[in-house]
Amino acid sequence: MNKNSLIRKFNKQAPIYERNTRQRRLGEWRRRLLQGVEGKVLEVAVGAGANFPFYHPDTVDVTAVDFSPEMLTRARQMASELGIRATFLERDIETLELPERSYDCVVSTLSLCGYEDPVKALNNINRWAKPGGRIYLLEHGMSTNRLLGAVQHLVNPAARRISGCHYNRDMIDIVNASELNIVKTERYWNGIIHLIWAQAT
Ligand SMILES: C[S@@+](CC[C@H](N)C(=O)[O-])C[C@H]1O[C@@H](n2cnc3c(N)ncnc32)[C@H](O)[C@@H]1O
Repeated sequence: MNKNSLIRKFNKQAPIYERNTRQRRLGEWRRRLLQGVEGKVLEVAVGAGANFPFYHPDTVDVTAVDFSPEMLTRARQMASELGIRATFLERDIETLELPERSYDCVVSTLSLCGYEDPVKALNNINRWAKPGGRIYLLEHGMSTNRLLGAVQHLVNPAARRISGCHYNRDMIDIVNASELNIVKTERYWNGIIHLIWAQAT
């Protein structure tokens, strides 16, 4: 899909993602995943800043990237309300250049569904993190329930067109195909939701 039309789609969804920052179940998964995020933190595809409430303002220095200006406006507001020190970059993750081996932690939530080449995005994350840097992923992917999986395949073309997301990606296969090392995974909601803790190599 053309990048500009993808950006327009996400701009339109920004108010929804702002409301989602208060979504309780997602909030529980974010809280569980993000314990331990500290130091120089890179957050890719930051959206409306839904992860910011789970950072400790005193221990993080965040660089937050997204290609949607509408999302970034909301993320800036969220950071300022919570006292989170953050720098915002309006960029495409798939072409972004950042200093290599620089970040203690990289956070990416609900974003691998959107990239053209998610393995390449993860390899970029691997380059930007310090060796052994901690990587935190919360993603939705193919269910372990075969019936639900079949539905995900069926609705995928429409979902991609409407929301910009792929609904049928195998997230574990994708992370395994990247240069990251998986440390631990947990799955919820018939295996659709993945919490993945990984390490840069
Ligand atoms: C589904 S939202 C998730 C937002 C946030 N991470 C969260 O957990 O609520 C996906 C976000 O990824 C951003 N995004 C998608 N593809 C991107 C790309 N290639 N470069 C930068 N941002 C991208 C969208 O603008 C959107 O803010």
